[in-house]
Amino acid sequence: MKLHGTMRINDRGHLEIGGCDAVELARQFGTPLYVLDEQLFRKNCREYHQAFTLKYSAEVIYAAKALFNMAVCRLVEEEGLGLDLVSGGELYTARQARFPMARVYFHGNNKSFEELALALEYKVGRIVVDNFYELELLNRLAKERHVRADIILRLTPGIEAHTHEYIKTGQIDSKFGLVIENGQALAAIKKALEMDNINLRGLHCHIGSQIFELESYAHCARVMMGFVAEAYKETGWTAEELDLGGGLGIYYASGDRPPSVQEYADVLVNAVSAAAEELNVPAPRVIVEPGRSICGPAGTTLYTVGAIKDIPGVRKYVAVDGGMGDNPRPALYQARYEACAANKAAQPAAEVVSIAGKCCESGDMLIWDIALPPLEPGDILAVSCTGAYNYTMSMNYNRLPRPAMVLVGGGQADLILARETYADLVSHDRLPARLRKGKLSNVASAR
Ligand code: LLP
Repeated sequence: MKLHGTMRINDRGHLEIGGCDAVELARQFGTPLYVLDEQLFRKNCREYHQAFTLKYSAEVIYAAKALFNMAVCRLVEEEGLGLDLVSGGELYTARQARFPMARVYFHGNNKSFEELALALEYKVGRIVVDNFYELELLNRLAKERHVRADIILRLTPGIEAHTHEYIKTGQIDSKFGLVIENGQALAAIKKALEMDNINLRGLHCHIGSQIFELESYAHCARVMMGFVAEAYKETGWTAEELDLGGGLGIYYASGDRPPSVQEYADVLVNAVSAAAEELNVPAPRVIVEPGRSICGPAGTTLYTVGAIKDIPGVRKYVAVDGGMGDNPRPALYQARYEACAANKAAQPAAEVVSIAGKCCESGDMLIWDIALPPLEPGDILAVSCTGAYNYTMSMNYNRLPRPAMVLVGGGQADLILARETYADLVSHDRLPARLRKGKLSNVASAR
């Protein structure tokens, strides 16, 4: 396993993260356990700030969907980034963490009436309007409140990024955004400009996630700038802001070669300014929305090894106490991960095994065919790069409680997310009187 951030192997031969012995963390907080490396998370924020904001005055807003809770929100605030939020729940979390709402961009392809009202009440910086229905609704809500909503319009640039089908978003046949090619995007601009309670500030697009080819971004920037010029010709309106979304890929397993954040910034910003010059329109301020590339490598999940099943000549399954409930990505996207035995981190890999989760699904496999030291029940397995889209996509399938999360740094570990309990699991259940123990239900008595 490649070591990320503050990871190292300590004198006891254990994996250490943020100065904390991973085996101790597992003992103290239980497993499965999400571990977040504070220093690496902050370093990744700073890298973006340096590459985009200090070098180009571009804005960086962290995509909360990748990993979010109140502590993470505070880290983002302290590092000076903005936030890309997509739901009432994320808005509420940011508010509870006292995040400055002027630095929030509120996204979503089907924001509800209540969510838009909440965004206006909180006075978020921008609302990223996705469709005509939302534009009308927002104008009406803003009118009722005697305010003008600052918006940017989400467009579909018609670009096919090279990534997994489920995480591509820029192609025309997509549920997101207004299509440029068929005139909808231009019609939306005209409409927004006529509205009394809408202030159109710019345009947005997002072509997908876990993208390695910077040329896809350059192409996207050129398409968007071409449209900025067209809109200017047609309406006289100039985009102040151009938000080009997130999506920069990260290293998960051998063979992954992501570009650096600075290369990404250079390609993106230069493509925008070159196009602006060529088309003779003012260059808009560039905005990016990274999620995975900030939090992904900073997360590690610790599991305890349980049953080991050897099928001679076929495969050795090593089952852990979590799986698709805390990390659905391998089952959903055939995502690959690396791992090490945290309590045997200095031992050589001696056999190839496959890591299984504990859910009742054959597809609940975390890693196929990985070389590890001989494992026994009770060993601690650390899976790296689980910071993005693990906790935020976790679920209670099979009524497995969600894991806890600790923030580690300087030898200290702080709980930032409590482990769900069995009591939490039943706390939302309701038993109608006729189903309570001792009562015969209507259905049962009718039989
Ligand atoms: N902006 C928009 C509008 C987005 O839709 C996304 C991700 C981002 C920014 C952040 O993208 P990132 O930098 O994290 O790649 N669950 C999938 C990924 C879904 C991405 C959704 N949108 C996965 O686990 O791979």
